[in-house]
Amino acid sequence: MLKKTSTDSYTVMNELVLPNDTNTFGNLMGGRLLYWMDIAAAMAAQKHCNRVVVTASVDNVSFKHPIKLGDAVMIEAKVTRGFNTSVEVRLDVWAQDLPSGTKIKSNEAYYTFVALDKEGHTIAVPELTPETPNEQVLYDGALRRRQLRLILGGKMQPDDATELKALFIESQKG
Ligand SMILES: CC(C)(COP(=O)(O)OP(=O)(O)OC[C@H]1O[C@@H](n2cnc3c(N)ncnc32)[C@H](O)[C@@H]1OP(=O)(O)O)[C@@H](O)C(=O)NCCC(=O)NCCS
Repeated sequence: MLKKTSTDSYTVMNELVLPNDTNTFGNLMGGRLLYWMDIAAAMAAQKHCNRVVVTASVDNVSFKHPIKLGDAVMIEAKVTRGFNTSVEVRLDVWAQDLPSGTKIKSNEAYYTFVALDKEGHTIAVPELTPETPNEQVLYDGALRRRQLRLILGGKMQPDDATELKALFIESQKG
């Protein structure tokens, strides 16, 4: 199967925060942002897999700064690693106050998608080849993040999470 790079899946989505997107404080609702992130991430995953994909899991998302009514939201999404039938997608979210041009990083998150064939069965995804040192870091970390989310999802025994355990043992030594 053809190997892919993160560039192949790179996706940018822009949204303007309108009154219907906000809570009573005039800030973007978290659920609306997660919805936009899911769409951007799904597009990146589909570009990588050339298949229909479904969201399997969303890692923890922190909302560091409120995003205001009238701000522009830019969501960058790219696949960090392909596994067997699933891919991990990294998201970076930026909020920009258009009159001043001030742009702040709002969120980072990882979504996991599973590729399905026309009958709705899971199907193999292309591998990803990292091309830069930063992509290599994301690629290596994806294995540990996968182990953590599968443990939390009840799909892996902690004893089987070899790379994740090794990380904790290394940090204890240091
Ligand atoms: C995601 C889904 C296809 C997985 O199906 P499943 O029968 O559990 O499949 P498997 O256990 O064989 O796992 C298939 C892949 O999903 C991954 N997966 C399963 N649960 C996961 C989880 N909680 N987090 C991350 N990945 C997960 C597995 O690691 C595996 O990936 P791999 O082949 O790359 O190793 C199935 O649970 C599903 O259809 N869920 C609903 C999806 C959906 O509707 N999403 C929208 C939510 S509103």
